[in-house]
Amino acid sequence: MRTEAFMIASLLSAVLSYPVDLNIRDITSSNAESVYTALQQYYSESTGLWQNQWWNSGSCMTTIADLAAIDSNLKDDIVRVMENTYYQAPKTNADFLSDYNDDAGWWSLALISLYDLTQNTQYLSTAENIFSAMASTFGTTPCSNNSAGQGGIWWDEAHSYINAIPNELLMSVAAHLANRVQNGGGYRNIARRQWEWFRGSGLINSGNTINDGLDTSTCANNGGVVWTYNQGVILSALVELSTATGDSSLLSTAQNIASAAVEQLSDENGILHEPCESYAEGCDSDRTQFKGIFARSLAQLGKAGGGDYGDFLRRNAESVWGRSDDGKGVLGVNWAGPFAGGNASTTCSGLDVLVAALGT
Ligand SMILES: *[C@@H]1O[C@H](CO)[C@@H](O)[C@H](O)[C@H]1NC(C)=O
Ligand SMILES: *[C@@H]1O[C@H](CO)[C@@H](O)[C@H](O)[C@H]1NC(C)=O
Repeated sequence: MRTEAFMIASLLSAVLSYPVDLNIRDITSSNAESVYTALQQYYSESTGLWQNQWWNSGSCMTTIADLAAIDSNLKDDIVRVMENTYYQAPKTNADFLSDYNDDAGWWSLALISLYDLTQNTQYLSTAENIFSAMASTFGTTPCSNNSAGQGGIWWDEAHSYINAIPNELLMSVAAHLANRVQNGGGYRNIARRQWEWFRGSGLINSGNTINDGLDTSTCANNGGVVWTYNQGVILSALVELSTATGDSSLLSTAQNIASAAVEQLSDENGILHEPCESYAEGCDSDRTQFKGIFARSLAQLGKAGGGDYGDFLRRNAESVWGRSDDGKGVLGVNWAGPFAGGNASTTCSGLDVLVAALGT
């Protein structure tokens, strides 16, 4: 144990000695409050969405819930906004269900975070309903049986793809519910089975990162892009499953994935990048959201005792706030800067890392 802790500590200090010391300014709650205010210019009271984006708004609900949990100045306003969204968003997609299971996962987690803030069980029941729609293909896809277990769901109603994100979200929602609903044993069981399947699916590659999905005909890892959020959602899922089962080895597994992602997806100054930032066409409005999700989940892992990511998170928060902002709270997609335009998705993603750093 001691040797392992020492090795992890020296690995982290090796990873964290960067050539450039950013040392811009320390992130404060008032910085996060400015970003929240800027974010709200994109919020529509009538749709309950930010810039009319569907899944992104679900994810953004969890971002602001995490902010409310650490900033009592904002709590009442954030709960009001989230409750408004609870009533308005189903006008866009009834029962929070679109044709995509990952979208359902973001909304279910959003309502779980609203339950955590308010303890109102109505939100938890809706989260359970969303989950049961999401789980309707559990264990029945062509890639659902592997040597480790039976599980897995399709990405979409059209059954075109079996990918990492809806499958990580299914596990995460089940594990979150296991820790919150009374007699959550059924959810714990699904989360555990889903994890065994995920582990056996080949989605985690030999470098300990997670590719985009499976080849639907061979069921092998398709070698797709290693997106940041796919390294993040699994961390949160493993933390919750570890709580639900008491199995702390799940935290070590999460720690391996987290360190691999930090190392492989950060630049020489320790700033996290999405692979699409270097594409000619840049990042589309889905991908601009991903990094914040990774940061949020990394903070959760750190809080659960699965490693210390404080320096990494503060470094990234200081960078996005100091080098990739418009001076009025809007944050850009490239956290290393320079600011080249921003919107709801890029701002919400940047807010995630500010909140993660503040809470660490
Ligand atoms: C997976 O295995 C179960 C029983 O172990 C079986 O009922 C099911 O048909 C199998 N599914 C596929 C897609 O092979
Ligand atoms: C947000 O900005 C990014 C680039 O910074 C862009 O690719 C994306 O389409 C924008 N999203 C919306 C909804 O305008």
